[in-house]
Amino acid sequence: KPTYLSDYRPPAYRATHTELTFDLKPDATRVKARLHLERHPEREAGAALELDGEQLVLKSIAIDGQPLEQDEYALTATGLIVHRVPERFLLDTEVEIAPQENTALEGLYLSNGMYCTQCEAEGFRRITYYLDRPDVMATFSTTVIGDATREPVLLSNGNPVERGELPSGRHFVTWEDPHPKPCYLFALVAGDLQKVEDSFTTMSGREVALQIWVEEENLDKTDHAMASLKRAMTWDEETYGREYDLDLFMIVAVNDFNMGAMENKGLNIFNSAAVLTHPHTATDAAFQRVEGIVAHEYFHNWSGNRVTCRDWFQLSLKEGFTVFRDQCFSADVNSAPVKRIEDVSFFRTAQFAEDAGPTAHPIRPDHYIEITNFYTLTIYEKGAEVVRMLRNLVGWEAFRRGSDLYFGRFDGQAVTIEDFVGCMAEASGLDLSQFMRWYSQAGTPEIDAHGEYDYANAEYHLTLRQRTPATPGQPEKKPLHIPLRMGLVGTKSGRDLPLTLNGDSLGSDAVIHLCEDEQTFIFTDVSEAPVPSLLRGFSAPVQLRFHYSREDLAFLMASDSDGFNRWDAGQRLAMLALDDLIAAHRNGVEKVMDPRVVEAFRALLERGGDDKAVLAEMLTLPSEAYIAEQQPLVDVDAIHAARTFVKQSLAVTLRDEFMALFEANRSDAPYAPEPEQIGQRSLKNVALNYLMAIEDEQGIESAQAQFRADHNMTDVRHALTLLTHSSRTDLADPALRAFGEKWAHDPLVMDQWFSIQVTRPQSDALDRVRYLMDHPAFSLKNPNRVRALVGTFANQNRVNFHRIDGEGYRLLADVVIELNRLNPEIAARLITPLTRWQRFDETRQDLMKGELERIRAEELSPNVYEVVEKALA
Ligand code: ARG
Ligand code: ZN
Repeated sequence: KPTYLSDYRPPAYRATHTELTFDLKPDATRVKARLHLERHPEREAGAALELDGEQLVLKSIAIDGQPLEQDEYALTATGLIVHRVPERFLLDTEVEIAPQENTALEGLYLSNGMYCTQCEAEGFRRITYYLDRPDVMATFSTTVIGDATREPVLLSNGNPVERGELPSGRHFVTWEDPHPKPCYLFALVAGDLQKVEDSFTTMSGREVALQIWVEEENLDKTDHAMASLKRAMTWDEETYGREYDLDLFMIVAVNDFNMGAMENKGLNIFNSAAVLTHPHTATDAAFQRVEGIVAHEYFHNWSGNRVTCRDWFQLSLKEGFTVFRDQCFSADVNSAPVKRIEDVSFFRTAQFAEDAGPTAHPIRPDHYIEITNFYTLTIYEKGAEVVRMLRNLVGWEAFRRGSDLYFGRFDGQAVTIEDFVGCMAEASGLDLSQFMRWYSQAGTPEIDAHGEYDYANAEYHLTLRQRTPATPGQPEKKPLHIPLRMGLVGTKSGRDLPLTLNGDSLGSDAVIHLCEDEQTFIFTDVSEAPVPSLLRGFSAPVQLRFHYSREDLAFLMASDSDGFNRWDAGQRLAMLALDDLIAAHRNGVEKVMDPRVVEAFRALLERGGDDKAVLAEMLTLPSEAYIAEQQPLVDVDAIHAARTFVKQSLAVTLRDEFMALFEANRSDAPYAPEPEQIGQRSLKNVALNYLMAIEDEQGIESAQAQFRADHNMTDVRHALTLLTHSSRTDLADPALRAFGEKWAHDPLVMDQWFSIQVTRPQSDALDRVRYLMDHPAFSLKNPNRVRALVGTFANQNRVNFHRIDGEGYRLLADVVIELNRLNPEIAARLITPLTRWQRFDETRQDLMKGELERIRAEELSPNVYEVVEKALA
């Protein structure tokens, strides 16, 4: 049964203070809860008290000290109802739970012998009976009792206020969190952990202790997370004026975790993959990911915790805003253009696909069956794009004033997206009512642009037409307010021309607003024929079509003043060539490489450029997944063949240039995850990629030498990937064996070893997946292992997952069926590639639907049920 946004009502009762006592035992943890409850002022008197609770064994219940009789309450599968309660009262309950049996990793569970929690969104109801909804905010006081030897460390939110010894080798710590919070921000950790400590002085001069808690063997992997945390704290003070509000900030690394990390108040819990780094175990990309996630969770302290969501339909209120904040942070401390390129290429591949599939939903959905299915690219990344558009619409200063207004006015409250956008409207004086449609309308808007230069009148006419395709449940779409940043690049001068619209001069880089289905913009005093540079910086999350000639694109690649659009022009040019080759492959015609692409790449290599990371991006072809997104019907084999052909053609013609680029960017400097070094490594490794695409002898030697040199994980992993993906088993096997033996003890490195093998384009990849699922380092119970092996295969090895014999689909469905029982959240996520069946040929469609139907025949968790039903609807 779905939950609807339109059914929202405040709760009949609310908790103002919550006292918890945990007596930890793996199979029988006792949780005592004393809730200070009162009738909600907006609700009528006399309503029953309804508490959420799942998989709890109730041991006792009392109101104001009086134990309840059997007939005074009722237990259901999803909660507890007390028929009559006073206006204000204390409710005492005691329940028993079994953390050891908890494989769903929601609520309280054990990970490597360590107790930890994940309560967002609705995990707290698996810990105790409660009003498990974000608009109930209480102060918490938590006592944790554990075994002094097995659990020397006992953590919860806020500040420790008391600790002591207990009989039979037990001990306790009491924590107090003075900031009212919804229970989804509750956290508890207990185990044999070690800490790394540092401190931070806030802008008002308060001293905050910073602690990162890990298993002993990981103590040497915390430096980067700690440094990132301090950078994030400074950035949020300088950029948003937001200061930290407790004396202690803790991060804990756990091995078994469904997502990246969680922003529990004062006690962030991280997937170990999202916090641990060491030059020998983590790649540059992992270092940057850790920095971004540490910042993201820290930023939630304001955008999420101090001001939270009224209900889960508002999830993007905190997630979209916080992703936008972490993206800006990463852009500020790294290469900003590269950060934007990376984010957009990921977005256009994965979010566009979500928007085009059966699970498409608005940034603010209006109903759901299982909220954990809505921690999606749409809520997070499209939500961030919409906040970015707001920032650009109102300008940074008004945006900052709006953000101050929002944090000030709603501090300590649970609010809605209207409250946020309302602050931006108030601070800027702009009418944002049409803009609000971005939150309720699903699907990716398509813009068809047509331009014409009128020599005689020195005018440029730009016509824009917008259309958002129908999505499930939304057949009709209204026009959106789309801000389009653009320039006109003069073909003679190679410069941005001044823009004049309706007599107003807008400078040479301007934003025009498309608000209707179709609009024509007439630029006057355009002194030479231009090529339009549209949607600069990806100023709106739309699909923009314009009939550029290949000459136009090569020109923009070289001359556009906007770095992002220079990169995008390169991608478009490569796409045009790829389209031809895909068609040639399908028609059995001989493939011919477009010399204009080769020349554009040669020009890039000759020009060089000072941002090596940008150059590396420009030399990288669109991924198979992105190419697939651009095709009306996905032909995985043709796409793979076409992309390989382009890569090899470029490599053959520009072999010496790539070799020179590789040599020029080698370095023995001590590893540092700094933007400049990272850029240089990417560039060198892109060059090696091309050389290996043609199995160049010198390239092979270089890859082997880079693997053996063992300088840092970025280089080792890249070399190992190239050797493993080559057609020569004599290159792959010894390297894989050496790496696997060396890192057998480190699960996060073994994840990389799994991923590298299952992305092999060779036809034995699927057999490898099955074989590796029996490897001692693999476990279906660990989400990181599942993602590294099965998720990576299904999402990144397109030719083998989509094998025409259906074996790839069958393998995925087998895993989903097993995980449906163990971990429904991960199971539901894993189905994604099967939900995209409409995009493929009839044979594959039937095979994919067949597997979805096989899943549907099982006894399903709500998570898997919701996804499968939508996929087959
Ligand atoms: N709020 C967390 C974050 O984005 C994610 C928690 C997701 N929880 C879940 N059960 N899916 O930082
Ligand atoms: Zn978040």
